[in-house]
Amino acid sequence: MSRLIVVSNRVSAPADPAAGSAGGLAMALSAALRKYDGLWFGWSGETTDHWTGEMKIEDRAGVTVGLVDLEAQDVDEYYNGYANKTLWPLFHHRVDLTQYERSYGEGYERVNRRFAEVLAPAIQPDDVIWIHDYHMIPMARDLRRLGITNRIGFFLHTPWPTRQLLVTLPHHRRLVESMFDFDLIGFHTREWMDLFTDYVVTEARGEVDGRGGLDCFGRHVQTGVFPIGIDVDGFLEARRSTLGTRTYDRMAASALFRSMIVGVDRLDYSKGLEERLLGYEQFLQDNPDQRGEVFLLQVTPISRDDVDSYQDIRARLDALAGRINGAFADMDWAPIRYLNRTYRRDQLAGIYRASRVGLVTPLRDGMNLVAKEYVAAQNPDDPGVLILSRFAGAAEQMGEALLVNPYSREELSEAIQKALTMPLAERIRKWTALMDVVRKTDVAIWRDNYVKALVGAPVSDDGVTLERAREQAQSTSKPRSKVRWAGLKLSSERT
Ligand code: F6P
Repeated sequence: MSRLIVVSNRVSAPADPAAGSAGGLAMALSAALRKYDGLWFGWSGETTDHWTGEMKIEDRAGVTVGLVDLEAQDVDEYYNGYANKTLWPLFHHRVDLTQYERSYGEGYERVNRRFAEVLAPAIQPDDVIWIHDYHMIPMARDLRRLGITNRIGFFLHTPWPTRQLLVTLPHHRRLVESMFDFDLIGFHTREWMDLFTDYVVTEARGEVDGRGGLDCFGRHVQTGVFPIGIDVDGFLEARRSTLGTRTYDRMAASALFRSMIVGVDRLDYSKGLEERLLGYEQFLQDNPDQRGEVFLLQVTPISRDDVDSYQDIRARLDALAGRINGAFADMDWAPIRYLNRTYRRDQLAGIYRASRVGLVTPLRDGMNLVAKEYVAAQNPDDPGVLILSRFAGAAEQMGEALLVNPYSREELSEAIQKALTMPLAERIRKWTALMDVVRKTDVAIWRDNYVKALVGAPVSDDGVTLERAREQAQSTSKPRSKVRWAGLKLSSERT
């Protein structure tokens, strides 16, 4: 294999990995690309008046990134529109929030085509291409149309919806058909993969080949479960850093012998934040003796603020946190510290370690790496307790956490009480089992397992994918590169 080309909408390789405040996916991808020579390609986050189709190459902490700007209309229809108003809520079972507009679908297709046109000239014959997430579902089809016959893999970082919900999406079949231009489709959990298979078999009349492959639309694709993990050693290093330790000390001092419960989530309706605050309020009602003895630190950076459903939940959370504080606070105690800001990774590690309970209670989540980071940050001799939603992908692996139904405030209240009073021996036993999972499924294992499967995956049982691509290639001239190319070297894996 010569190079790994990673494609994702957001490209945010941090200059200093310990400083990273980016989401779990971004951290995982930069860790993946530090191992393999290659390129991380995606949107620059900038908008321009006109589409230039130009890729800007930068080096960020040893990771080569290729960035393209998008027109304002693209951002509106593709990112805010189809990705975040249509697919995101639908894939998170929020059909009530899902907006279907023809212009969003057109923008989504246009941007995927544009990404493919910019990337295609930069692809070398032996490159392996790994495309990530719901923003880029049809991109393999567009690359194939441009004559790209390389291995192309896809990884979905969100849940896959049930068939009954997916069919509410206009052109759902076209979207799924485009996925059959990938060689390998990866999911975090068996549940998401089974739901995908169910759609293909029941709705599209495809067939399961018994070896993780699916035949449908006259083509073949491999599927597999690859649970993502964190960069365990990098995270432990961040925790032990000067800032990590100082943050721990500061938090411990500011807790004033009170027990801290922590939640860290993007401000998103899928994270179950309202339900969490209501569950915590229930806990304060159920346990009057605990008032003044605990507090909840909820770190919630603003996210996707151009989308109305995100503005709505933001306003509701502001009101809810204010109401609970108003009802329960004392002159020297506030039950909730609600912060709309981001922290560096080393600071988060210190915060997690200083807390007695980690609350990770999404209503639906592809995986959730906060759960894994929380565990990794704990003191083995006196670990905190993880409360985890049974609807997070992480629950499939982390059964030793206190698993809860995040919709039930009584259940949340009881779990908080149980976590706060759990004997040390039980905390250590649970933590040891969870840490074992976190280590055994770290980001390097995820990356290597996926790439190995992609490289070894049959392109197509009957060669249809390749043949079709070749035929199309003959009728399509390869686009001329507008890439300002930085002379990426061909090499094998870095050690
Ligand atoms: O869960 C999907 C995901 O792409 C995450 O990997 C990432 O943290 C998050 O969504 C980021 O969303 P956005 O790029 O819209 O801020």
